[in-house]
Amino acid sequence: MESALTARDRVGVQDFVLLENFTSEAAFIENLRKRFKENLIYTYIGSVLVSVNPYKDLEIYTKNHMERYRGVNFYEVSPHIYAVADNSYRSMRTERKDQCILISGESGAGKTEASKKILQYYAVTCPASEQVQTVKDRLLQSNPVLEAFGNAKTLRNDNSSRFGKYMDIQFDFKGAPVGGHIINYLLEKSRVVHQNHGERNFHIFYQMMEGGEEDLLRRLGLERNPQQYQYLVKGNCPKVSSINDRSDWKVVRKALTVIGFNEDEELLNIIASVLHLGNVQYGGEDGIACITSDTQIKYLARLLAVNGSVLTEALTHKKIIAKGEELVSPLNLEQASSARDALSKAVYGRTFTWLVNKINASLAYTDDSYKNYSVIGLLDIYGFEVFQNNSFEQFCINYCNEKLQQLFIELTLKSEQDEYEAEGITWEPVQYFNNKIICDLVEEKFKGIISILDEECLRPGDASDLTFLEKLEDIVGGHPHFITHKLADGKTRKVMGREEFRLLHYAGEVNYNINGFLDKNNDLLFRNLKEVMCMSENKILRQCFDREELSDKKRPETAATQFKASLAKLMEILMSKEPSYVRCIKPNDSKQAARFDEVLIRHQVKYLGLMENLRVRRAGFAYRRRYEVFLQRYKSLCPDTWPNWQGKLSDGVSTLVKHLGYKPEEYKLGRSKIFIRFPKTLFATEDALETRKHSLGETDYLTFIFPQNWAFLLSFSITMQACWRGVLARRRAQRRRQAVDTVRRFIKGFIYRHKERCPENEYFLDYVRYSFLMNLHRNLPKNVLDKSWPTPPAALAEASEHLRTLCMQNMVWSYCKKISPEWKHQLEQKMVASEMFKDKKDNYPQSVPKLFVSTRLSKINPIKALKGYKARPRQLLLTGSSAIVTEEGKLKQRIDYAALKGVSVSSLSDGLFVLHVPSDDNKQKGDVVLQSDHVIETLTKLAICGDKVNVININQGSITFTAAQGKEGIIDFTPGSELLVAKAKNGHLSVVSLNNLLFTLASV
Ligand SMILES: Nc1ncnc2c1ncn2[C@@H]1O[C@H](COP(=O)(O)OP(=O)(O)O)[C@@H](O)[C@H]1O
Ligand SMILES: [Mg+2]
Repeated sequence: MESALTARDRVGVQDFVLLENFTSEAAFIENLRKRFKENLIYTYIGSVLVSVNPYKDLEIYTKNHMERYRGVNFYEVSPHIYAVADNSYRSMRTERKDQCILISGESGAGKTEASKKILQYYAVTCPASEQVQTVKDRLLQSNPVLEAFGNAKTLRNDNSSRFGKYMDIQFDFKGAPVGGHIINYLLEKSRVVHQNHGERNFHIFYQMMEGGEEDLLRRLGLERNPQQYQYLVKGNCPKVSSINDRSDWKVVRKALTVIGFNEDEELLNIIASVLHLGNVQYGGEDGIACITSDTQIKYLARLLAVNGSVLTEALTHKKIIAKGEELVSPLNLEQASSARDALSKAVYGRTFTWLVNKINASLAYTDDSYKNYSVIGLLDIYGFEVFQNNSFEQFCINYCNEKLQQLFIELTLKSEQDEYEAEGITWEPVQYFNNKIICDLVEEKFKGIISILDEECLRPGDASDLTFLEKLEDIVGGHPHFITHKLADGKTRKVMGREEFRLLHYAGEVNYNINGFLDKNNDLLFRNLKEVMCMSENKILRQCFDREELSDKKRPETAATQFKASLAKLMEILMSKEPSYVRCIKPNDSKQAARFDEVLIRHQVKYLGLMENLRVRRAGFAYRRRYEVFLQRYKSLCPDTWPNWQGKLSDGVSTLVKHLGYKPEEYKLGRSKIFIRFPKTLFATEDALETRKHSLGETDYLTFIFPQNWAFLLSFSITMQACWRGVLARRRAQRRRQAVDTVRRFIKGFIYRHKERCPENEYFLDYVRYSFLMNLHRNLPKNVLDKSWPTPPAALAEASEHLRTLCMQNMVWSYCKKISPEWKHQLEQKMVASEMFKDKKDNYPQSVPKLFVSTRLSKINPIKALKGYKARPRQLLLTGSSAIVTEEGKLKQRIDYAALKGVSVSSLSDGLFVLHVPSDDNKQKGDVVLQSDHVIETLTKLAICGDKVNVININQGSITFTAAQGKEGIIDFTPGSELLVAKAKNGHLSVVSLNNLLFTLASV
């Protein structure tokens, strides 16, 4: 759209929101006209696409066009049905939200064509595999089949859909169409038995007649002449120049094969039987009907696979069950004809529904492994209808349009409100006509027109169309949207029949003729006709007429109630999806190209609610764009933003619009978008851009080098940019696809993780191993004391153990390598201490963290001798050959290591130790009892120096020693709460050793 803003005078605006006078219907229509003249049939109202039927083939639906719209931003290209299709598709893929495209408009406006274009767009542009191709073919081929059976030539459209259609296209996670589902609404069955002048029955009858092979027609008992069949001559126009029934027949037959249809014979039998039914003639005396010729019955019996005489009886009698008894009464001529017609309608109508189910079965997405799919729904449903004579069908159709209009207004308003809220801009309430009041008038329980109609249909007694009208007058007579001849003022009375009621729809007034309302709503088939059909051997009819129906005492729901329920369901479906709208307009009633009938168009603009739509969209701001788009386009207009703005985008836009002189009331800045209130502001900016373009350096430069071609180069560079964006988008899409693939493989692997290695789980198992090793790599133990180790998966348990050992060895090796000689010496001593005392002496653990030193000689003497059980400070010197006890430098005792018999300590946490010397050594003064603050250290050094590791005795209880002169002494050790060394009454030295492990030298 941006590129075409400048072309606005010649071809109008591409978006009606840019109309300066947006409330003027004339301006709206003038814009449509300008564009239509230039074959620009598409225009937006915001995101709603308005499409005018060109009634000629335009070269705008080629593969190249599809490519142009694929993956491109909605507003960057001119309006097109493909832009809507692509936008929905991308929203579905990126936001994972189901979408629906609502196509509306009156008969002949181009709805069905639009829905076909969308389907073709997806068929060509979506990713495909062989399996997907089959689905695509079936989706496309479902159209000719449904059109043959559900479309007909009417005065308005040579290929008018006589049923409503909602089609879901299902897409898998790769965005490929993988299935579909169709819901059909209210087929106009009355067309089977009657057509207005200039109209035809459903296409399939004429196609069969024209295209059917001789053999086939013979078998079906048909002549190749539509004039011969009562059901085909009512409209008196079996041939239509724009329709080629013969080639259409071939298309339909081929489509049936693609869909995987194998009940052709039964289906054609049913079609033929309807034609034969139409030719069943009645005669009879005394008003009692009988069938005058039995040729038809013969064919019917064969084609419907029923008993001929039972059928004859059923076509001429009526069976009622009253109070459990069967009452059979003959029919008069009129009743018999309508019974026959009711049978034709029922057979055709049910076969049509069966056909839709059949197509659905062929489109069903059957891959259970991945049930999660996204959906784009296409709604192609009858538009608002106003004829000279409007009946029950128009009543239903227009009610349907009221409902859709309500949904449309609600959702459009809601999406506007949502956008304002998301952008943080205050919502300004919009006045609009809420047509809920009309919907209620039709559908409200007990008080609505449908309820009143049902009541008249169901009540016993002499209910008729006229009593229905009276009831309406009684109950809804005062409603502002309801009038009848009786209730109307004089002026209106002149244009209303006595058998009519008028509804003031949102789109205009419609008079409905009440004749036939009750019958059409009842849609009843006499019981005996139902019984015959239930006995049919025809495969299709057996499914259409279920025997259970006969035993079901409940009255079937009326046509209007069924329709109301199906519409309610449709609204639910549509509400659950994100909608896009295509509003189709028919330019003239004569199906002519290039004729723009203003009156007709104004009428449609009105009843499609387009002005209302525009008002809602324009209520606040005409134009809104993301900051980056706006800045990119207009940055050259401000020196601060040209050539590039480095700061925040919103600041850039703010700087730019201030430089352009926007007044505060003309715009607002949202969170990510700029909102411009009036189109004129935007156009002024556009004009400034045009002027600026010519003075831009880039242009000058290009002009200088390529005098004629700078414009081409500019457009070339834009194309290149678009291509590059396309490349980037495709790369992103590929990355996303890969991610999804990985996740799927992972989930599958997880499910199969306990199985033997197989293709399903190998990815997962490898990943688990890889992730364990990477985790290990990040969390290896920091040192030899760190015992942490990640838990390995079962398959790696053994390897993990090996790695753990290796890791430990490695840590030890590198630790050893870094060790200094002093530290080594320290550790060697600690090792000896450990060997001697670990788990043997209580105060060993306290010694572990304390470093051993080479001397502890200082003022605070840690060694004491217990001579005569009294503590006296001493020093213990350890030389290479002996241990020497001194008192402040005075030698007290020397013990050669060679003479050292043993060393005794207790197992408790005291510091006492006894050096045993031989008792016969006169040089010695007996065993030495010493006490040390560092007993472990002292004894370790002693053991190392004297190589006496093995002579250390650790005693429990007591130590016996030999004192001077061969006297024997005993030291008793007992655990206690406090260190106490004292002479006991028994003459022993008693040592109460601390229980706790804090060893200090208590005073002796
Ligand atoms: N985009 C289009 N281009 C060309 N012709 C079109 C286009 N849309 C509709 N027509 C013509 O108008 C006819 C009626 O369109 P159709 O889609 O059947 O109307 P609707 O479904 O609204 O009743 C089509 O048969 C076709 O000839
Ligand atoms: Mg149609």
